[in-house]
Amino acid sequence: MLFDHELAWKDPSIYREIYANSIASPEKFWEYHCSKLFPEQVFNASFNCLDRNVKKNPNKTAIVWYGDEYCERREITYIKLLEMTQKIASELIRRGIRKGDSVTICMPMIPESIAAMLACCRVGAVHNVVFSGFSSAALSERIFRSSSKVVITVTTSSRGGKIIPLLKNVLNAINDMNVEVLLADYVDDFSLDERAICYADMKYNDTMFTLYTSGSTKEPKRIFHTCGGYQLYSAMTFKYIFDIKEDDVHFCTSDIGWITGHSYITYAPLFFGLKLVIFSGTPMYPNGGRYWEIIDDEKVTILYSAPTAIRCLASLGDEQLNRYNLSSLRVLGCVGEPMNESAWQWYFENIGKKRCPIMDTWWQTETGGIILAPLHNIEYQKPCFASKPFFGIIPGIENDELIIKNKNWPGLSSNFSKNDGEIYHTGDKAMIDNDGDFRILGRIDDVVNICGHRLGTSEVESVVNTLGEIEESAAIGIPHRIKGQVLCIFVTTTTDLTDEQKKSVTEEISSRIRQDIGAIAKPDRVVFIHELPKTRSGKIKRNILKAIGESKGVISYNGKDLDSVINPACIKDIEKSIKYAIRV
Ligand code: WTA
Repeated sequence: MLFDHELAWKDPSIYREIYANSIASPEKFWEYHCSKLFPEQVFNASFNCLDRNVKKNPNKTAIVWYGDEYCERREITYIKLLEMTQKIASELIRRGIRKGDSVTICMPMIPESIAAMLACCRVGAVHNVVFSGFSSAALSERIFRSSSKVVITVTTSSRGGKIIPLLKNVLNAINDMNVEVLLADYVDDFSLDERAICYADMKYNDTMFTLYTSGSTKEPKRIFHTCGGYQLYSAMTFKYIFDIKEDDVHFCTSDIGWITGHSYITYAPLFFGLKLVIFSGTPMYPNGGRYWEIIDDEKVTILYSAPTAIRCLASLGDEQLNRYNLSSLRVLGCVGEPMNESAWQWYFENIGKKRCPIMDTWWQTETGGIILAPLHNIEYQKPCFASKPFFGIIPGIENDELIIKNKNWPGLSSNFSKNDGEIYHTGDKAMIDNDGDFRILGRIDDVVNICGHRLGTSEVESVVNTLGEIEESAAIGIPHRIKGQVLCIFVTTTTDLTDEQKKSVTEEISSRIRQDIGAIAKPDRVVFIHELPKTRSGKIKRNILKAIGESKGVISYNGKDLDSVINPACIKDIEKSIKYAIRV
């Protein structure tokens, strides 16, 4: 059947034919693939990722883990990962966790974390992974709002040479909530409960997990994904877009705290029984050769990383890079924020040696898996284009915004129903060229993207506004060479402050954000002004602040924008103040 064609993501005419089929009869298309990928119709992810693969090849390596320091490396086979999963599942069962219960996971990038996710799936619990770099206040809110009965964590973790006291953070976070802590450090000592040998019967539409992500409101959004749709879509996209083979060695540098770490570290690669490489350090510690050494040692074939990491590594020059052999690489990928041309070229030439196609994949927590990605032909690579829709997806552009005109692809989060209309609004700005290739240009809503991490500006503002000296604030993203964007916060104060006082308020803003959200939301600079530009109805004109924040001297405004500001004189003041922005 043409649907399974191995050139599906390579040959443009075959791609077009399959795509046309998938759009013409989506039900037939998805049902066909569902029956191929889930022949037993079992939708428990723990079964699909573990039991099935253990039956085929128990001693195949599932995970190779690299730690923060050079000497740290562990290898976990599929049978061992199943055993770890069953042991953690046993502890969950002993704590009364049953199908549908919510469990928070706050863990670093270690094999135990993947076992913890699969253990939740095994018993049918809904996991809620919280990025381990969030502050205990942010963690606390997510534990509480998800009504978790158990939090799985480890005592400490280390990243970039720093020790993070995870257990301490978790204990702070749960304070007097009625929540139990399960320490996964001791998984080998856990005893096996017979009930964890089996797996919960999960239906196609049962909730598999939830994940919080930033939106344009004060509160993070809780996204839900279902067992069948999510696994089907993440597995399908992985299979075609990365053109996977059984002996691939897959290295995705994301973190389980984000959706990429769910779909393309954990669920899709293990679904296909691949060998994965995970790394709990940073690409720069103790030097910028970590990724390249790992790729060389493990003969990695697929590298899936983030533009911020690529820009950062590119800025180091090629001295480290030239020490290693990267010829095992076959496909490169990136996700999380727009690429820029020089980083794209560097990735293509210096890492892929012009042999590897770059999968600049565009998608979101809400979409469950990749929505846009380029085809695999080297001759036809367009830098920074996410290019083509995956099968079954009908993208379009409406007022510069990327929209998806159908909501019937299986990966879409169950938060979005057809009752709210047929169109899915992405919140991203995009363009389409004459070949029908899409290019993403960044967010159009009040969400910024710092190092590939989504952050709602109103989440930040609500923290800043709790300071006594602050009257009002507006956070915006401004471009940054490596991080993509950084936060610039405009504030008005209740009284006039001296320069010394401004410095100390800036420090307080930074430490309050660190405490309430986490280090990823730390601002780059704070600008003290007398008045925010607002419309008659009181809405802050962020585009004016953005124009000023981004300006390198000359600012041009759209006349309409200026007319709508209640007091245009405040703009001159802001232009002056930006020169005195206080760097954090
Ligand atoms: C951005 C991450 C440009 C975009 C999987 C999106 C991208 C948000 C790309 C989702 C890309 C993701 N090019 N921008 N290839 N991929 N984005 O939910 O703004 O953490 O809306 O999911 O990241 O972030 P999220």
